Amino acid sequence: MSNAPDRNIGLELVRVTESAALAAAPWMGRNKKNEADKAAVDAMRLMLNTVEMDGVIVIGEGEKDKAPMLFNGERIGNYNAGWDVPKCDLAVDPIDGTRPLALGLPNSIAVVALAERGSMFFPGPIVYMDKLAVGPEAAGVIDLNAPVADNLNAIAKAKGKSVTELVVVVLDRPRHEQLISEIRATGARLKLITDGDVAPSIAACLPNTGVDVLMGAGGAPEAVVSASALKCMRGEIHARLYPRDEKEKLLAEEMGYDTNRVYTSAELVKSDNVFFAATGITDGELMRGVHYSSQGATTESLAMRSSSGTMRRIIATHRTEKLQQILSDQKERMAEREKRG
Ligand code: FBP
Repeated sequence: MSNAPDRNIGLELVRVTESAALAAAPWMGRNKKNEADKAAVDAMRLMLNTVEMDGVIVIGEGEKDKAPMLFNGERIGNYNAGWDVPKCDLAVDPIDGTRPLALGLPNSIAVVALAERGSMFFPGPIVYMDKLAVGPEAAGVIDLNAPVADNLNAIAKAKGKSVTELVVVVLDRPRHEQLISEIRATGARLKLITDGDVAPSIAACLPNTGVDVLMGAGGAPEAVVSASALKCMRGEIHARLYPRDEKEKLLAEEMGYDTNRVYTSAELVKSDNVFFAATGITDGELMRGVHYSSQGATTESLAMRSSSGTMRRIIATHRTEKLQQILSDQKERMAEREKRG
């Protein structure tokens, strides 16, 4: 395909998540979720607009909690570059874990995924999806329609472990009461997290992270984001729309969604040309957060590409003068854009 996104775009995306993380980091522990989100969104939008692509935000952020958004359907990228730029779908999450960032807690990350135009699943107005995510060893054995115990037995067998040695990550929410007791009944170990289910989906694909499985209902946008990463890592996620009430279920059905359907990673992101980047904002198990020194700031990021299966861990140092320059350039460009409407 002449205008397919090429491998260099993967590194461009790292700049995008680094910028969002650097913009969000000063808000750590300040209990200002919206301000932090706005800083990350603005930085991400500005940086995405420097990437030579004709992008559409399929998975944006913000509707759930009315935070500042990179909104669904927004056209993004340097699409007037003057030549045939790739047409892309984007899934963005400038801060996955706004609450942990606001409270200064671990595991807040900036994330972006990109794939060919028309390939990303759009969950419409449905806020949550039920998810089951595993790494490559167990990719072929999961089934979201099967009982929890069957899945955990199959995953344990595929990983050469006993069920009691598995670690299952679940968002600590009242909606997971039944799921949690079913997991406990199998003897598997459980890790209840307060926020952020993208990072544990990725962790399930990596050795020695202490995570084998992610289960439970979390953000629908995050399901598509995780599917992008898992496609790069040869893991698997199954996800099913999880309407919060009868009204949301009816709305989904009216819009043509089948709320019983289980979507695989290949259905959540149809392209085999997928790129994913993430940068730590606060320290986490997957990546270190933003740290400052007398010289500037350090970031740690992951960059992945599905067609090669390469995953890069990138530690970058950003010099103070450069950071200040970027910040003032960003302010200027934002002001210009606002003037132009
Ligand atoms: P944001 O920080 O992007 O708002 O989302 C954090 C998050 O924990 C996601 O990782 C997760 O999928 C979703 O929110 C869970 O939603 P809720 O907090 O409503 O249970």
